[in-house]
Amino acid sequence: MAKSSAQFVCQDCGSVTLKWAGKCEACGAWNSITEEAAREEVPKGLSGGKGKKIEFVGLSGSSAPLPRMMTRLSELDRVCGGGLVPGSCLLVGGDPGIGKSTLLLQAAARLSADAVVAYISGEEAVDQVRMRAVRLGHAQAKVALASATSLRDILASLDQPDCPQVVVIDSIQTVYADNIESAPGTVSQVRACAAELIRLAKRRGFVLFLVGHVTKEGTIAGPRVLEHMVDTVLYFEGDRGHQFRILRATKNRFGATDEIGVFEMTEGGLAEVANPSALFLAERRGNVSGSCVFAGMEGTRPMLVEIQALVAPSTLSSPRRAVVGWDTNRLSMVMAVLDARCGLALSGNDVYLNVAGGLRIAEPAADLAVAAALVSSASDIPVPADMVVFGEIGLSGEVRAVAQADTRLKEAAKLGFAQALVPARPRKDKGNAGGGVGSSLSIRSVGHLQDVLELFRPD
Ligand SMILES: Nc1ncnc2c1ncn2[C@@H]1O[C@H](COP(=O)(O)OP(=O)(O)OP(=O)(O)O)[C@@H](O)[C@H]1O
Ligand SMILES: [Mg+2]
Ligand SMILES: [Zn+2]
Repeated sequence: MAKSSAQFVCQDCGSVTLKWAGKCEACGAWNSITEEAAREEVPKGLSGGKGKKIEFVGLSGSSAPLPRMMTRLSELDRVCGGGLVPGSCLLVGGDPGIGKSTLLLQAAARLSADAVVAYISGEEAVDQVRMRAVRLGHAQAKVALASATSLRDILASLDQPDCPQVVVIDSIQTVYADNIESAPGTVSQVRACAAELIRLAKRRGFVLFLVGHVTKEGTIAGPRVLEHMVDTVLYFEGDRGHQFRILRATKNRFGATDEIGVFEMTEGGLAEVANPSALFLAERRGNVSGSCVFAGMEGTRPMLVEIQALVAPSTLSSPRRAVVGWDTNRLSMVMAVLDARCGLALSGNDVYLNVAGGLRIAEPAADLAVAAALVSSASDIPVPADMVVFGEIGLSGEVRAVAQADTRLKEAAKLGFAQALVPARPRKDKGNAGGGVGSSLSIRSVGHLQDVLELFRPD
């Protein structure tokens, strides 16, 4: 048996190094490496030993379809791929104070209507959780509540024939295994505790929610250390300055990962937002230059968001580029195309780009809206307040068709928009079939970015 010695582990990504370093080579995080007791190595030379023979079966055999449990928080169910799969483990990550405990307590309370649910908090005393339950209006819910941190105790309590169907552990960083030397929250502890809990969940068939804190300092292990071990990874994100929160799946073994759930943080807890576009556009002021409404898609859902650009003369030798909610490289690309293909040089200006409300957009379909916002700000001519924009921009300045144009237009019409700036040739795919929805909107199609500049020519 190898004796345990020290090793250095990045608390962010879990990679192991021999020496301490200020920066992790694997993930680039700073100050995330700490010393931990090394785990015992697996004894070598297992092959040729007395293993049991595995039974192989055909792919086509019959297995009952996985029944799903509905939390009845429809935004959460959607992100999970249509409810919870028994025996699966979901990791819920997010910044401190973003609302992870609130979300899971609400889900637990709703689930408890027809399932046995246990909520184990290692962070808060029972009284604190009860106070939250009162504020959320779930004081009467039949949730079994406990405050515990010892893995041994938790496993002993859950490993029963009448174990709960859903277990919430808030948070995995507070749970500790007493047979491991490292402090609670370190990579070795978090990994070992999660592995034991997941194994039990699979064996007993309960749904396991693990809360994982996102930390910048690296004093405790982050959720990334666990991402490969769990079935589903959900991130709960949002901007402190805004009341809405977005739940995003970054990994899901039982569903797509492009759906998002939108919630609003209120006095009485998290409220589901059925119509996110209306929320994202709520604070928009019409007829301001540099503002443009992008008709985007998040998974199967259309979502309208405001993109704001500010182009201002710079006094700096290397002008500022500040981007919130979009990809900085994508902005550079759009600006380069505006410069090289349309003769609009913005390089001597500070450029700020902001997706209003704190949403993060990953779609290339936002290119045209970003370009319109930039050109509008540079020319100080507003994009019409009742216009939505979408389209991808190619390197030669051509405006390319994007998927699901009809769905986007339909959403825009529903929210009272009257015009749309769209790519000239629609793409032939699902969601672009009809063309009938355009009837209520006046469509301006553009084939090249130059056509967009024409719209903002002062005359
Ligand atoms: N009385 C209240 N009224 C309105 N909102 C509240 C109230 N109390 C708490 N909140 C909201 O709930 C948030 C905290 O939620 P919660 O404790 O669920 O977050 P968390 O992600 O679990 O935090 P932690 O990382 O500390 O565990 C606060 O940031 C605040 O927005
Ligand atoms: Mg919490
Ligand atoms: Zn790392």
